[in-house]
Amino acid sequence: MAPVVSGFSKLSKVDKIKWLAEHHFSNDQNATDTLVTYWNSDDSLQQLHDEFTENTISNYYLPFSVAPNFLINDTRYTLPMTIEESSVVAAASKAAKFWQNRGGFKAEVLSTTKVGQVHFSFEGNSEKLRQFFKEVKPKLYDAVSNITKNMEKRGGGVREIELRDKTSTIDKYYQLHCTFETADAMGANFINSCLEQFAKTLSSEAKAYDGFSKTEKDIEIIMSILSNYVPQCLVKASVSCPVNELPDTDQLSSQDYAEKFVRAVHIAEVEPYRAVTHNKGIMNGIDAVVLATGNDFRAIEAGAHAYAAKDGKYKSLTHAEIKEDQFIFSIEIPLALGTVGGLTTLHPLVKLALQLLGRPNAKTLMKITAVAGLAQNFAAINSLITTGIQQGHMKMHLMNILNQCNATDQEKEQLVEYFTTNIVTHSEVVTQIENLRN
Ligand code: MEV
Repeated sequence: MAPVVSGFSKLSKVDKIKWLAEHHFSNDQNATDTLVTYWNSDDSLQQLHDEFTENTISNYYLPFSVAPNFLINDTRYTLPMTIEESSVVAAASKAAKFWQNRGGFKAEVLSTTKVGQVHFSFEGNSEKLRQFFKEVKPKLYDAVSNITKNMEKRGGGVREIELRDKTSTIDKYYQLHCTFETADAMGANFINSCLEQFAKTLSSEAKAYDGFSKTEKDIEIIMSILSNYVPQCLVKASVSCPVNELPDTDQLSSQDYAEKFVRAVHIAEVEPYRAVTHNKGIMNGIDAVVLATGNDFRAIEAGAHAYAAKDGKYKSLTHAEIKEDQFIFSIEIPLALGTVGGLTTLHPLVKLALQLLGRPNAKTLMKITAVAGLAQNFAAINSLITTGIQQGHMKMHLMNILNQCNATDQEKEQLVEYFTTNIVTHSEVVTQIENLRN
């Protein structure tokens, strides 16, 4: 077991690696070499990455891929996607190509409001608290005027501060439930700074408030933090086409395809075990664009799944129907995204990803990202109801298996050819490599 270490963050990068080598890797030179191999040869670029977080010792590569042919509201995009799962980008590209010949994707932002809360305890008369809040509310707005000045110039700011009595859930529990518009920023720092100032002002004003008893003056701030649940920061994307323009094969007519597709989505609307996997597939596309554009994928994940459970039961984020011979497929998802601030001007590949998308504002990025999720779900369901998922997935995974087996370039070429007409399984790839080598 490694010993307790203090002052680790103050060590140089080289000394941190030495410490790791000694205490975790039995001084195995390979471990050190692996970490060093991934350093960037450009020192200033490496320093930039080192300074993103604490205790950085190397870089962790993920593929930076692109999916072309996304026609969204009549504009063509090439989507940047950062993801390790083999088949995701191919699936997105395939769906994009399919829908570009059928009018493309339509997308609209339904709302952009974000939420933050000051959670506090108040012991006393709730009517007096309400009166106090009414009197102190203008002072709360004033107290953040320095923070909101620039945001207001960009069309954002604090929209509403509401006092909420939560004592029916927890004794003495109240909130300032605050709503914000954050223009093109994701807005976490802006919101949290405002909330922490609201909390300070609330507590100091309570102390000076004549209408309160000694106990009532003592408001206890529990915490001030934005919410990643953003059901009012919502975007909708959809595709539609006549049923007879859907895939038509010997096994499945277009009409049968449409009905089977709709049924597959309905299953994800009523069956949580399926809904979670269904939504995971949607998030394959969403997270890939969110990561490539330097946004916070954990926030997006948390908000999306909470929204999927908003009716008290976890459900599909997409919906499908057949209406007057039209197949309609849509997604509605909360996406609190930013195109300024955070990593957007710092990380060279994030800057490039945003440039690739034509430097979108936050609303446009919300639309593009929702479309990535819808496309991914279309591709997944298309496979699931026809060939099954493994055929495409394993084909894309073939190269990973070949690399695991240390296949040479020549072996790769021969086996890629072989598996164009044979089913890829891990054991079959191993057998075929052995055959070649014998
Ligand atoms: C795999 O990453 C995602 C899928 O399982 C999604 C789905 O089942 O809809 C293919």
